[in-house]
Amino acid sequence: MATEKKIAFITGGNRGIGLETASQLAQAGVKAVIGSRSLENGKAAIAKLKAEGLDVDVIRFDITKPADYKEAYAYFDKNYGKLDILINNAGISRENFLDGNNASKVSPAVLRETFDTNFFGTIELTQTLLPLIKKAPEGRIVNLSSILGSLTLHADPGSPIYGAKVLAYDASKAALNAFTIHLAYELKDTKIKVNSAHPGWVKTDMGTDAAPMEIPDGAKTSVQLATLAADGPTGGYFHMGQPLPW
Ligand SMILES: NC(=O)c1ccc[n+]([C@@H]2O[C@H](COP(=O)([O-])OP(=O)(O)OC[C@H]3O[C@@H](n4cnc5c(N)ncnc54)[C@H](OP(=O)(O)O)[C@@H]3O)[C@@H](O)[C@H]2O)c1
Repeated sequence: MATEKKIAFITGGNRGIGLETASQLAQAGVKAVIGSRSLENGKAAIAKLKAEGLDVDVIRFDITKPADYKEAYAYFDKNYGKLDILINNAGISRENFLDGNNASKVSPAVLRETFDTNFFGTIELTQTLLPLIKKAPEGRIVNLSSILGSLTLHADPGSPIYGAKVLAYDASKAALNAFTIHLAYELKDTKIKVNSAHPGWVKTDMGTDAAPMEIPDGAKTSVQLATLAADGPTGGYFHMGQPLPW
């Protein structure tokens, strides 16, 4: 029997934007389950949230390990019989953002590692969990993209990201955006909404201290898209409620 409370799964939820997204969703009354590569790190991360009375939990989860997709499915199926919100937040960058222009020299190893996490793993997890998302009254899937995944802006000499070109990361997020568009199309006659989020340039381990945006603001786009009303958009690419060009 499916529970009435909304259940969310946030991958890469033990730190950064993912942890803050879990916190904000739990504050909004959602049960937020984070995935963490290290269960110990994950437990430590949610201890503070639990102490504040928030309804959060953790499962061990590595987006590059197909066995973990099945374990995540089994966990949500057994405990909740559904999944309302999937936030595909886990992501990596293996390139130096300040040393762009690497298209001619980025290694196949970096390309493959980046795509394994940011694209292949994310798609396979989503496909695995989709039957449970279909069992929720109105599922929401949020893919953590980046403005750096915008081909339109990368091709525009006048855009703010024109000079910020790191091929593996940028291409992995552009590919993820393609998944958003394709999955939203496939699900267009259902109540499930699928959107890409650009969180902003956020002060996390990935974003570095040079980033202008604090983590609480960095989680807002994910939370907005995870809690969209029934008349909200699907198949879009947003930052703080504003559409971005693909
Ligand atoms: N920060 C920004 O300015 C910015 C801008 C645009 C987009 N984004 C996107 O927003 C998302 C969150 O970024 P963030 O800044 O919060 O990054 P972060 O601080 O580096 O955190 C990344 C999270 O992903 C997890 N992760 C990495 N590889 C994983 C794997 N194989 N399996 C499961 N989890 C894994 C990490 O877990 P561990 O602790 O185990 O490493 C960590 O929890 C990413 O998709 C990123 O690309 C960030």
